[in-house]
Amino acid sequence: MQSAPVTKYRPFPPVQLPNRQWPNRTLTRTPIWCSVDLRDGNQALAQPMSVEEKLEYFELLVKIGFKEIEVGFPSASQIEFDFIRRLIDENRIPDDVAIQVLCQCREELITRTIESLRGAKNAIFHLYNSTSPAQRQYVFNADRAEIVRIATRGTEWVKQHSRALVAAGTKLRFEYSPESFTSTELEFALEICEAVTDVWQPTVQDKIILNLPATVEYATPNVHADQIEWMCTHLTRRDRTLISLHTHNDRGTGIAATELALLAGADRVEGTLFGNGERTGNLDIVVVALNLYTHGIHPGLDFSDINGIREVYERCTRLEVPVRQPYAGELVFTAFSGSHQDAIKKSWAAQKPGAPWDVLYIPVDPADIGRSYKAIIRINSQSGKGGVAYVLEHEFGYQLPKLMHKEIGRVINDLADVTGRELTPEEIHGAFQREYLERNSPLALQQFKTNERDSAVKCEAVVQINGATRTLTGEGNGPIDAFVRALGTTDLPKFEVLSYVEHSLGKGAEARAVSYIQIKTERGQTLYGAGIDTNIELASIKAIVSALNRSLAKK
Ligand code: KIV
Ligand code: ZN
Repeated sequence: MQSAPVTKYRPFPPVQLPNRQWPNRTLTRTPIWCSVDLRDGNQALAQPMSVEEKLEYFELLVKIGFKEIEVGFPSASQIEFDFIRRLIDENRIPDDVAIQVLCQCREELITRTIESLRGAKNAIFHLYNSTSPAQRQYVFNADRAEIVRIATRGTEWVKQHSRALVAAGTKLRFEYSPESFTSTELEFALEICEAVTDVWQPTVQDKIILNLPATVEYATPNVHADQIEWMCTHLTRRDRTLISLHTHNDRGTGIAATELALLAGADRVEGTLFGNGERTGNLDIVVVALNLYTHGIHPGLDFSDINGIREVYERCTRLEVPVRQPYAGELVFTAFSGSHQDAIKKSWAAQKPGAPWDVLYIPVDPADIGRSYKAIIRINSQSGKGGVAYVLEHEFGYQLPKLMHKEIGRVINDLADVTGRELTPEEIHGAFQREYLERNSPLALQQFKTNERDSAVKCEAVVQINGATRTLTGEGNGPIDAFVRALGTTDLPKFEVLSYVEHSLGKGAEARAVSYIQIKTERGQTLYGAGIDTNIELASIKAIVSALNRSLAKK
């Protein structure tokens, strides 16, 4: 990097718009969506989609609910041409969906593009030429008047050559893009858009689409919004114009730029699923649509099976949706941090059916987009006790007493520290079993029986202590008390039982009891033990053995 002062780059000039309105507005309506996955997205792929893949992808876009889909650049490649022909010839385009085709302002390309549309019911002819000073100077070596002439002549050719197509029944609409709009002087962008509109002669019923692309993103989103508001207020035939947005993401703010430009008055949005596109990508339509949804505005697009959509996308594009991608990324409904896990758990429990969504850290109900609750809490060394207890309860059915959470949390934390990675629910379960349920040394229970007389319970327990078998007896007010007293006759440390909780694990014939017993040793140590058995009494005796063995292990 250049050391300060940075002279290599220049700030983007602000737009003079003293009366700007967009900052005081809120989003209240859904824009018209146009997917450009099959053109802008596809042309950015190292390995472009095959015709079969494009057909599958087109079907996906239709299923999501797109009514305008840019299907290609048919004059640029035979594959694109063939794909469009198959869509039309095989009647794959629903009546309410318009296919959009991109073309440069050259007569032979325009006629070829129109040829690709033969038999289509609804189509949008998308014509573009580049307009910025740098494009005019370096690429076209043309002055402003020549650039305007390229656009108007192209529009005339579209009008002229599409007459037969329209006469044959195709409803043809027209879109013009001054490519590199956001780097173009606004007065010149206005001049060229007005000139194209003069030629096309749109009506209120059949509006022209003026697509104002941020071909490369150079400025902050507020500047983009100013540019769009400036155009919206200066166009002479706004009532006959749909203002369309087409942002790219070079500064990582393509989504923000689109959202602010919608406040500035735009009607339509072009973008791709998950933001695939040249360089840093096109606008991610999924995010903008679901952002609207989480504001209470239905986007008119259906992302209720986001995992299925992601699967088709990844297969056809051979790209991966990053794990942190909003809404669709693998980890976005996952909290590793203990305090987050705790807050999610508490607010989720407080969420009333039908009430506005209010779960902390999760701005959208995962179920709305087909994601599962299961994967929400996952465990690594940053996780807290709440997360571990959540996994043990939701994956394996253990309802650990609250005071036990801290203990097991520490055990799992140590394990996560040692492994240095995320732990699976099975690993957590395994650690819980080793720590509590499989504690048979130095004390191991071999047999236990009780009999009750005059409200006193007598027990006889066959145990092994450090490998030596002993038969112990004791009497108490219940089996637990009797066993504790029986152990009191040995050299094992003395302890008292502080609390006892049990519940059933599993259902029907498979059901077992699980007991959690908290003890306090004579050295003042408090800790839990746990035991499982089909017999509820034995489950609690095993829990005592577990607690005592744990205390001896700690000693
Ligand atoms: O990014 C862009 O400017 C384009 C145009 C062709 C609309 O893709
Ligand atoms: Zn683009």
